[in-house]
Formats: sequence, structure tokens, C-alpha cells
Amino acid sequence: MRTSLLLLVTLPLLQAADAPPAGQASDSARAQVLVAYYSRTGNTEQMARGVAEGVQRVPGAHAVVKPIAEVTQTDLEAADGIVLGCPTYFANIPGEMKVLLDDWNWKLKVDFTDKVGGAFATAGGQVGGQENVVVSLLLFMVHNRMVVAGPLYHNARTGSVWAEAGAAAITGPLDPGVGEGELDGARRLGERVATLAARLKATGAPARSAVEAGFQSLFDGRTLAGWTVKCLPKDAALAAKAWSVDQGTLLANTMGHKEHFYIMLVSDAEYGDFVLRLRFQVERGITGNSGIQIRSRYNADTGWMEGPQIDLNPPEPELTGKLWNEGPGPHRWLSNEPVDGFKFKYADEGDGWNDLEITAQGLRIRSVLNGVTVVDYDGAGVLDDAEHRQVGVGERGHLGLQIHSFHELKLRFKDIRLKPL
Ligand SMILES: Cc1cc2nc3c(=O)[nH]c(=O)nc-3n(C[C@H](O)[C@H](O)[C@H](O)COP(=O)(O)O)c2cc1C
Repeated sequence: MRTSLLLLVTLPLLQAADAPPAGQASDSARAQVLVAYYSRTGNTEQMARGVAEGVQRVPGAHAVVKPIAEVTQTDLEAADGIVLGCPTYFANIPGEMKVLLDDWNWKLKVDFTDKVGGAFATAGGQVGGQENVVVSLLLFMVHNRMVVAGPLYHNARTGSVWAEAGAAAITGPLDPGVGEGELDGARRLGERVATLAARLKATGAPARSAVEAGFQSLFDGRTLAGWTVKCLPKDAALAAKAWSVDQGTLLANTMGHKEHFYIMLVSDAEYGDFVLRLRFQVERGITGNSGIQIRSRYNADTGWMEGPQIDLNPPEPELTGKLWNEGPGPHRWLSNEPVDGFKFKYADEGDGWNDLEITAQGLRIRSVLNGVTVVDYDGAGVLDDAEHRQVGVGERGHLGLQIHSFHELKLRFKDIRLKPL
């Protein structure tokens, strides 16, 4: 009876919590914590609701609660934190739950790197194996490069603080249903995971570069170190605000300001052969154009950055990843072929971020957007022609992130990392 009453009270609360209260950050700015559970008779589901209540206590986070069988790849990719729970079956994880978990890695190939994890379990017995289940779930997370945490407790009398491995409830005949103390543990778990997920999200730390051998980070998530804003003198005041660091991301923003020429963020270093990886995000409805200049040089007299450009084109997303010649010589597409399986995400789709990889090796330029090859271009006779060589672009030069002339643009970059070849 206690079980069903609590369920009735908590469900509406959680549904209401899916929409941000007035004045609170939008979903894309808040950390998303997925609470995924397996439950046949409702005990573990009740704990899941408790975890979600704890998540909702954290202003910078929101919860998505789902039975594990309904969790989609998009749910997993969008999650900054994942809390998993299941009953104890013969002192271990139910087989069905284990199969689904394995599929997230084997079949869906989800990248869990630096997502924050936590675990909970229910069991009929007092020493029925619930801790074994919690530890097994945490091991799955650790092996998938997540960072894990448990609920925090505080003894107000002695001042001591401690953490536990997860949350658990005894549901058998000796202590039927999920009790208030057990729900309290679930809430603490949700709060702890959400707090850490929100903090990690706010840093915008380049999570993936840490595990990619040979790559160096080109953006520290806090400053524009290593980059210089370049523009015509008339645009200097706008340019000083147009590129900034916001929530750990590199933000290009000229919203409300159309009257400007190109405002470029140019790498201080030059690069020849390299693999460049970065993530970018753009809200639906943005009309401004951007792009990534490679092996290019800024011309302070004309205000153009000359060299090859991989286009980033929010209003015409199918052009994103295509290769453009931004001078010298005719400004024209160098490679703009239709692409099978082309994938572009706006900020409200999946995790809202696009993965772009650009490889420049010799005279060959390749771009891969969200795992799909967009350009594989042989630039012999173009990138090394007399005009490009005269300006010193096409084979070597700076990187440049573009705010297109006369455009209102809002676009974010993060996880910018490069491996010289
Ligand atoms: C096949 C099966 C095996 C179980 N094995 C154990 C066990 O090893 N230890 C234990 O304490 N409880 C065990 N239980 C009890 C469940 O863990 C417990 O009832 C749990 O709260 C059910 O969760 P649910 O209501 O979310 O389905 C088992 C239950 C089933 C159906």
C-alpha cells in the first residue's frame, strides 16, 4: 500500500519537472541525468522515482526516467549522467538487464566517456546480494570510461561526512516495500550524480581528447589562449564581444549585429598535415554562416582569410563539411557532392552536438561529419597552384573559425583537438 501511494505522489512531480521552471536554464544548458531501471514488480521503479527526485533538487540538472528496455541511443548520448538500477536475481544482475547493457556498448557503440554514473538495487533479503548488483553496475560504467559516485551522508552531531557505493532497498517479507529511509538514499544518489554531472558540463572540459593518443587540445574551456580575433578595424568593438568563452564552450555570437565584415578567430600556430577534431552546436533557426579555415592566412588589408574552408552552414545544413576555396583565385566549391546518410544535428536533437573531423595530409583533404565522410578531395593542381603558393596557403597555414560577413550567427565549439601527422 505504501508503495502505490508514494508512486501516485511522485509521478506528477516528475512530469512537471521535465519543463524548466521560469527563469531556469533551458534543457540544453542543464545537465541531463538518465535514470534507467529494470523492474518486474515495481520496487526498483519506485527507487528510480526517488533517484529522479534527487536529480530535480539540483537547479542545473533535470531527470529522464525510463525502463531500460525503452532507453534509446539518443537518450544515452544526450545524458550527462546515467543512474542504473535493477532488482537482485540470485545475488546478481538480472540477465535481461545485462544483455541490454552489453548491447549499449557492442551494438549501439555509445561513447560513455566522462558521463557521471551511479547505481541502485533492490533485493528481497537483507544480505541478498544487493551490494553485489550495485558494484556490478558501477563496474560496467567504469569499464565504459564513466566516472562514478554514490550518495553522500552527513552526521550533523559529529560533523562527519561519508559516501556509500549506491542506494538499495530491502523488499522481502521481513521489510516489505520501499521505505522512506531507502527512498532517501535514492534521492541522495540522484542529487550527487546530478551535482557532479552539472559541474562537469559547466566546465566544458574536453573529455574525449584525454583518451585520444597524440591529440593536443586547442581550447582550454576557459580562455581564448592560442587564438587571436582578426577583423577589419571598423569591426573591432563588435569583434571584442563576438568571440567569447561561455559555459566552457567557445561561443561565436553576432546576434542583433549584421553590419560587420568577417570576424575570424585565428589559431596562433600554423599547421601542415594534421587531423583536427571538434564538436559544434547550433540552434535551429540560426541564419548565419560559418566555416573552418585550414592551412589559411588572414589578409589584414582585405579582411578575408584566404585558403581552403570546411563549411559550417546552419541554414543549409547539407553544405556542412563541404570544401570551399576562400581564395586566392575564384571563390568556389572544391568538393560539394551529395552524401549518402548525411547527418547534421541541431541543438534540440540528441545530445545537440556535431562531431567533425578534418584530415589534411599532403594535398588530400577529408572531412567526416558525425561519422559520415562528406569530403575526400585530391587537391593536386589546386591547393599547390601558383596562386595558393604565392599567398602561402593550401599546404600549410593557420586554422580559422569564421563568423561570416553581414551575418547574425550564434554557434558553439568545444573539444577542439589536433594531432599533427
Ligand atoms: C528470479 C528472482 C531471483 C531473485 N533473487 C534474489 C536474490 O538472490 N536475493 C534477494 O535478496 N532477492 C532476490 N529476489 C527478490 C527481488 O530481488 C526483489 O523482490 C526485488 O525487489 C524485485 O524488484 P522489482 O519489484 O523491481 O521487480 C529475486 C527475485 C526473482 C524474481
